[in-house]
This record gives sequence, C-alpha cells and structure tokens, in this order.
Amino acid sequence: MKAIYYEKYGNISVLKQGEIDDPKKVLDKEVLIKVNFFSLNPLDYKLRNGMLKLMTFRTFPRTTGSDFSGEIVAKGESVNNFEIGEKVFGFLSQLNEGTSSQFIKVNQSILSKAPTNIDIGKAAAVPLAALTSYQALVQLAKIKKGNKVLINGASGGTGIFAIQIAKIFGAKVTSITSHRNINWMLDTFLVDEAIDYTKENSLNNLRKNEYDIIYDCYGNLSFNKIKDFLKSDGSFITTDPFRLESIAGRFFSIFSNRKFLSVVVKSNGIDLSIVRDWIEEEKIKVFIDKIFNFIDTSKAYEYLETQRVKGKIIVQINE
Ligand SMILES: NC(=O)c1ccc[n+]([C@@H]2O[C@H](COP(=O)([O-])OP(=O)(O)OC[C@H]3O[C@@H](n4cnc5c(N)ncnc54)[C@H](OP(=O)(O)O)[C@@H]3O)[C@@H](O)[C@H]2O)c1
Repeated sequence: MKAIYYEKYGNISVLKQGEIDDPKKVLDKEVLIKVNFFSLNPLDYKLRNGMLKLMTFRTFPRTTGSDFSGEIVAKGESVNNFEIGEKVFGFLSQLNEGTSSQFIKVNQSILSKAPTNIDIGKAAAVPLAALTSYQALVQLAKIKKGNKVLINGASGGTGIFAIQIAKIFGAKVTSITSHRNINWMLDTFLVDEAIDYTKENSLNNLRKNEYDIIYDCYGNLSFNKIKDFLKSDGSFITTDPFRLESIAGRFFSIFSNRKFLSVVVKSNGIDLSIVRDWIEEEKIKVFIDKIFNFIDTSKAYEYLETQRVKGKIIVQINE
C-alpha cells in the first residue's frame, strides 16, 4: 500500500513516499480502516525528529501522523459496535505506527463513529487535539460553570477546542494569541477577552487571583511566573510536562494551594464520542487552515513547523 514513511529520525527531508507492507490480518478486537484523511500535530514532528526515541526505539520504517478518519473495510469477530462501511475517526497513541498509509489496523476501543454533520476530512482534524483539551479541562481541572479560564496558544490545534469546550461548560474565556489572531478570537470564538502576546508587557494587565484555570496549550508559561493570577485554589495545566519549568512547577506547587497539572492525552473512543456529540450538536466547530494532498505531506509539515497554523491542517490520502 502507498504510504509516507521514514527510515531514520530527522527533519522533513527524511520523509519518503512509497510502498510499505499491507497491515496483517485483523485480530479479534481490531478493525481495518481505509484512511481518507490524516491530520498533523506537533507530536508527529517530535516523533520524527527523534525527540521521543527513548519511548519509540529504533524500529523502521515508521509511518507518520496520529489522527485519522476513514471507512471500516474489515473487522475482528468481537467487534460489535462498528460495521463494515461505517465512517470512523480516532488517533493512534501507540508511538510505533502512524496513520499516513492507505490502510491502518486499530483496536476498537480507540474508535468513534465520525460526526455525520461535517465532512470526513474535517473529522480527521479532531481527535488528538480535542481530546487533549477535553482531558485537560474536564477530567483534570474539572472545569465548572462560571469558571474564569485563561488559554495560552488559543489559536492552535489544541487551543481552538479548548475555547469551545470551556464555553460549553459556561466558563468565561480569556485567550492569548498574537495580534494575527485577536479578531478571530473575538469575532468567531466570542472570547470574553483577547490578549496579544506580541505587545510588550502584555501579561502585565492580567489581574491577580483572577483565574480558576490557566491552560497553557502552547507550552511557554511557567507555573512560578503565572501562579499569582490563579485564584487561591486554581489550577495551572500544561501540555508540556517534560520541560524544566514544568518539573520545577510541579515541585513548587507542593508548597501552594494552587495546583500544577499536566496532560498527556490518551486515545479513548468513549471520550471521543462525547466530542463527536458536541460536534453534531454544533457546540464545537472544526477550523481547517489548509488541506494538503498526500504527495505534499512534506509541505504540510513545513507549514505546521512554522507554528503559525490557525486551527488544524489535514492531508488527504484516499478519496
Ligand atoms: N501532552 C500532550 O498530550 C499534548 C497533546 C497535544 C499537544 N501537545 C503539545 O501542545 C503544544 C501545542 O499543540 P497544538 O497542536 O495546539 O500546536 P499548533 O497547532 O502547532 O499551535 C500553533 C499555534 O501556536 C501559536 N503560538 C505560536 N507561538 C506562540 C507563543 N509564543 N505564545 C502563544 N501561542 C503561540 C500560534 O498562534 P500565533 O500565530 O497567534 O502565535 C498558532 O496558532 C505542542 O507543543 C504539542 O506538542 C501536547
């Protein structure tokens, strides 16, 4: 089958397009999916660069991409909730295989039926980014109606879902983005306040003891510097648990009532079905910045790695 893959860790130049082996026969609880679209997340280039090689080891060839949407073409004997021909979406967190191939084999537990009110390409943009923000805000920080939430990196993949999930829970949202995205935040996402981080001393206007939750989904805030803006029992959550500031933040939070939390997203069909329902109820919209053809996957990475993507980018592999 055709695929985008790499045979050594490195920059975009290691990506190849060609043929790899078809997936082996599906096991009892697995389904075989004809992938229509995959989407790209920063995790995918971190894996390709070898930043996580302590977890991924040196097994090659390796396909790229975590998210997928597509159609079930075969299923194991114990798969009762999904039918052949059904459209599904999800993300792979196995760290040893990606979604940039014509077919993938996945366990039924990570799957959800795709939303019926958006096209199958948009569905591929949802799973990893939306589940990160769902698990961070809902499961870890236990967001409640009336909470004040500050979201840093609000215009990226995880950020756009974070704003919408916070709004579903009746929270008041302050976004932090560059000037490029301020109007998008105010006009499309209806955030209550939008802060432009490119302005000098932009965080000086934040009020102390103001926020129930500060969600850093870009990964450059530090608990020690931002904690005074949290209420006395507020929570700081980061999507980057492994950098030095996070390790320090975790340590210093021991001496504070304010909590330091970090999210490591888990692929899970039950959580994804909740997000799918919100999409079908039009409480969550999916924003696609660019769509790439399979042969242009390198260009998709070039764009993603500028860290300027508004929302998500997707890659089409099969019609
Ligand atoms: N731990 C986990 O399980 C987990 C899961 C998902 C993601 N992550 C991590 O979370 C981070 C964000 O992921 P993502 O998918 O949202 O990334 P993304 O889509 O690539 O983020 C792009 C956005 O970042 C914004 N940005 C760039 N520089 C910024 C800055 N200095 N301050 C604030 N925002 C800035 C850009 O907005 P402007 O152009 O307006 O600056 C752009 O809209 C990545 O490091 C990713 O690896 C971790």
